[in-house]
Amino acid sequence: MRSWLTDEFEISVPVLSAPMAGVAGGRLAGAVSAAGGMGLIGVHPGASADWLAEQIGSAAAPGRPFGIGFIGWALSAAAPGQPDPDELLRVAIDARPAVISISFGEIADHVGPLHDAGIAVLTQAGNVDEALAADAVGVDIIVARGGEGGGHGRNEVATLPLLQEVLDAVDTPVLAAGGIGNRRGLAAVLAAGAHGALVGSAFLACPEAANPAEAKQAVVEARSTDTIYSRIFDLAQSLPWPPQYGGRALRNEVTRAWAGREDELARGGPAVVALADQLKSARQAGDVAFAAVYAGQAVGLVESARSAAEVVAEFAAADELLARLR
Ligand SMILES: Cc1cc2nc3c(=O)[nH]c(=O)nc-3n(C[C@H](O)[C@H](O)[C@H](O)COP(=O)(O)O)c2cc1C
Repeated sequence: MRSWLTDEFEISVPVLSAPMAGVAGGRLAGAVSAAGGMGLIGVHPGASADWLAEQIGSAAAPGRPFGIGFIGWALSAAAPGQPDPDELLRVAIDARPAVISISFGEIADHVGPLHDAGIAVLTQAGNVDEALAADAVGVDIIVARGGEGGGHGRNEVATLPLLQEVLDAVDTPVLAAGGIGNRRGLAAVLAAGAHGALVGSAFLACPEAANPAEAKQAVVEARSTDTIYSRIFDLAQSLPWPPQYGGRALRNEVTRAWAGREDELARGGPAVVALADQLKSARQAGDVAFAAVYAGQAVGLVESARSAAEVVAEFAAADELLARLR
């Protein structure tokens, strides 16, 4: 299956696994790349340079491209007591990944230095203005990311209308993200004109992923209607996510109790402090009834814990569907 993406990066399946903080370490990224896609390591806010170097060590394989994904706002300034983001970027650049993804924050200042190092720059856009802004600063790959996607991002437009709009608006190569869960989703976006897909949720139950076993099981059991988009977990934990980037996660006890009460969460107070403590303990215990399990609507298509290679092979079968159109 060939597209600009496969030719440019010498991969055989036009799928990039998403840089998912807490899930996509070097092991998942390396497994996706080994299977013919390209895996991206997801760098969480506050990650150390040593952690990143270790992940790169397990992702990098001779002859296989891989990528590294940062959260834009987390690169802007070092929070007190947190590792220096410039050092993290240096570690990333020195590893010479094929792609560096910077989404959900400022990207303009990063494009020049990454290009000087010969690294392609990818960003995710959740509306057409964001795509045009990325186009204007010279990024190499724009991902049209619809609101049905897992994890953080905008919830303004669904993948299909956004993809059509962005493809018409920019000349930069476009990938699609959000809700692409199997061969059918990949075939749809390729047929529409995308050069490939950035896929997160479909890899959430893989044995190579770094998320807890309980979260993987919850993903396998979840249906496509079991997710909710909100800022509940960010507000409860005082995480500095910009408000336009809420998160899509599995519904659980916490979302049931707090949905629609975001103003109360933002005001803080004893109940919110107690919730933050509860979330911390739940995360440590792998208690998914309370802890956040970020996932998109494509969880409904994840029915078992398949390996990353099996998931990539499923996407490769998009070719059979596309052959019908020829
Ligand atoms: C658990 C999880 C963690 C994520 N973490 C990040 C991240 O650290 N950086 C990032 O750019 N995107 C992150 N995302 C969003 C993905 O890059 C991508 O937009 C999304 O997974 C695409 O939609 P899909 O889940 O329907 O495939 C995350 C998504 C999930 C599900």
